[in-house]
Amino acid sequence: MLPGLLFLGLACFGLPACEAQRPVVFGGTAPPGCRCVPLTDCPELRPRPGQRWTPDLTAAIQRLRCGFANRAIKVCCGGGQSSPTTKGPPPPTDLPRTCGDTNSIDRIFGGKNAPLGGNPWMVALGYSVPGPRGELKLSYECGATLVTRQHVVTAAHCVRPDDIGLLSLKQANIGEWNTDTDPDCFVSPATEKNICAPPVVVRQIAAATWHPQYNTDGKYNNDIAVVRFDRPVTFGSYVQPICIPNNFDPNIPASSELNPLALAVGWGATEKLSSSPVLQEIRLPLVDIQLCNASYLGILNENQICAGGETGEDTCSGDSGGPLVATGKAGGKYFLIGLTSFGRLLCGSKGSFGVYTAVHKYRDWIVQTLAV
Ligand SMILES: *[C@@H]1O[C@H](CO)[C@@H](O)[C@H](O)[C@H]1NC(C)=O
Repeated sequence: MLPGLLFLGLACFGLPACEAQRPVVFGGTAPPGCRCVPLTDCPELRPRPGQRWTPDLTAAIQRLRCGFANRAIKVCCGGGQSSPTTKGPPPPTDLPRTCGDTNSIDRIFGGKNAPLGGNPWMVALGYSVPGPRGELKLSYECGATLVTRQHVVTAAHCVRPDDIGLLSLKQANIGEWNTDTDPDCFVSPATEKNICAPPVVVRQIAAATWHPQYNTDGKYNNDIAVVRFDRPVTFGSYVQPICIPNNFDPNIPASSELNPLALAVGWGATEKLSSSPVLQEIRLPLVDIQLCNASYLGILNENQICAGGETGEDTCSGDSGGPLVATGKAGGKYFLIGLTSFGRLLCGSKGSFGVYTAVHKYRDWIVQTLAV
């Protein structure tokens, strides 16, 4: 996760001394119905022929920035047309029908290491980070969840330049389990057989689009983004998309189609101030939103959900942008209910909840954004 950027900034709500640590953000609201397109495809945000860039124009671009594609800035353009620049088959424009299936046979809840192949939608986002001598090294700082052959969903704060600072989003590792080994292998305690997953699938990042209203109110709401790979992956036992729920009410488990216990998955671990090479997972209770809202001084809205708050168990076991999943009551399919957004610095302590973007509220936005 991005502790210096997100967790520090957000641990400070309501504490004036911490104010300066908040990331700098651009204000403003994107016009409803605008489309997120490369700046070159948005004539209204470019100087007319023969004219120069004006401060107004640059300010408007900052305000309407919504992502990047192939290193070019993208803006929220009213009525603009997106022109596909990549060759090959067009990326999927809808969510797959088959989703949420896992081939894991010996999933043990309460365990720490996630079972090999148990979270085939889990993706590690790799960033290039400048080292002490200016050299670039790859570091996995955020999690993401596979939703189509060519797209993952993650947190906006994992892709927006204002949040990631000197990091640059480079690649996605799909089918990853142990970031230190490739292929990943595991000796099953039941059968004593050595099971190996296929080699990890690596894709370059072609585009990232964050929600146009992300943090426009300064409260880190709408912390969601869709990231597109340069080319699709092939689904298999270790690479599967997750299901996006249509509806989900964490406060009324009885009326909900989903189980009220959720599973947070990821490699990050701020408790130890280092991340684990082996994917971790933890079962977390969903928390009443009013209780959680009160503990965060009333900054939460209905597009967020909370989980955790039990000693030693929190989103520190997950990664920023990574999934909070739940199984459907009827079948064993897995649904993406939350994206790890923020928590307290002292995570894993009693009454300290993790806050997640409530994915079901963004289903339509995700589908629309696949086509961008
Ligand atoms: C959180 O509390 C604030 C202040 O009381 C309130 O305006 C807001 O609606 C609450 N959010 C939720 C999800 O209840």
